[in-house]
Amino acid sequence: MEHRNVIIIALTILCTWAGPGTCQSFTSGLSVAAVEEWDHFIFSMHWPQSICVERNETGIFNCSIPRETTSWIIHGLWPTNNTSEKPVCCKGAAFNRSLLDPIKDQLDVHWPNLFIGQTAGEFWKHEWKKHGTCAASMESLNTQLKYFNVTLSILEKFNIASGLAQFNIVPSDNTFYTVSDFQRAFNSLYNVSPKMLCFPSSRKSKNDPKRSAYQYISEIEFCMDKQFSNIECPRKIHPNSRPRPFCLHP
Ligand SMILES: *[C@@H]1O[C@H](CO)[C@@H](O)[C@H](O)[C@H]1NC(C)=O
Ligand SMILES: *[C@@H]1O[C@H](CO)[C@@H](O)[C@H](O)[C@H]1NC(C)=O
Ligand SMILES: *[C@@H]1O[C@H](CO)[C@@H](O)[C@H](O)[C@H]1NC(C)=O
Ligand SMILES: *[C@@H]1O[C@H](CO)[C@@H](O)[C@H](O)[C@H]1NC(C)=O
Ligand SMILES: *[C@@H]1O[C@H](CO)[C@@H](O)[C@H](O)[C@H]1NC(C)=O
Ligand SMILES: *[C@@H]1O[C@H](CO)[C@@H](O)[C@H](O)[C@H]1NC(C)=O
Repeated sequence: MEHRNVIIIALTILCTWAGPGTCQSFTSGLSVAAVEEWDHFIFSMHWPQSICVERNETGIFNCSIPRETTSWIIHGLWPTNNTSEKPVCCKGAAFNRSLLDPIKDQLDVHWPNLFIGQTAGEFWKHEWKKHGTCAASMESLNTQLKYFNVTLSILEKFNIASGLAQFNIVPSDNTFYTVSDFQRAFNSLYNVSPKMLCFPSSRKSKNDPKRSAYQYISEIEFCMDKQFSNIECPRKIHPNSRPRPFCLHP
């Protein structure tokens, strides 16, 4: 039980975008995003059903998935360097939601805010302030519309659900996959190693009642260079979840 709580807390810190990690908690806002301060991106996706199981169980947020959202969604595209998950919170244009009007319908489906009581715009604003303002040091990302639209097209390019389906990794509550099977599939599809974050189910293992029987995959991260080609992350990002079987909760 204690162990499980530790895992939940750890995942909550890593995954949550509201609360700790907002720009207010970073005292030194960079005046400009120096291009040479970062050299790759972390691209992060959520499996929405797992996020909602997790959030409902922890009670941090009530969660709801838009009807049109049927697959992996975007968490963010984060400029990163070798030493830290930085820079973040650069000085730049204030977030203006109407600039995203041309792609709002796609964002609502593929980059939704699952937390009841918060608008999608609040999530986008957070991602823009914390990460987009720094990414904007690149010409191809130097407006809000470009940053969000390019990120959408990355998600679209990977088409992850159908890729995984080729390896018979499909949403199901009674089929479980090993972390290494998933990594092998992901590697052959996209030629890159994913970092996987999982959430332990509340069902306990028969053999060891202290452990959860299985887990839900909730997030995948991998790295890209500034030309948006997949690369192995130069720096170790979050460690993988425990190597227990997991499912894609339908
Ligand atoms: C989470 O809780 C909400 C509100 O109680 C409920 O409508 C929703 O079905 C739950 N989602 C999951 C995945 O359990
Ligand atoms: C979630 O929904 C339940 C039932 O509607 C409510 O009692 C609870 O306060 C909500 N929790 C949060 C964090 O909003
Ligand atoms: C980060 O590390 C890679 C490989 O070790 C190196 O090629 C690159 O120049 C480093 N970038 C910075 C900004 O130090
Ligand atoms: C990484 O980014 C931080 C924050 O911008 C910066 O202080 C640091 O020098 C950068 N590291 C490298 C290797 O560029
Ligand atoms: C936000 O963008 C819209 C559309 O370009 C513009 O009309 C509006 O003035 C902007 N609002 C602010 C506060 O800058
Ligand atoms: C978004 O990017 C796509 C290419 O990925 C492009 O075809 C489209 O015109 C862009 N949309 C806007 C509103 O810039």
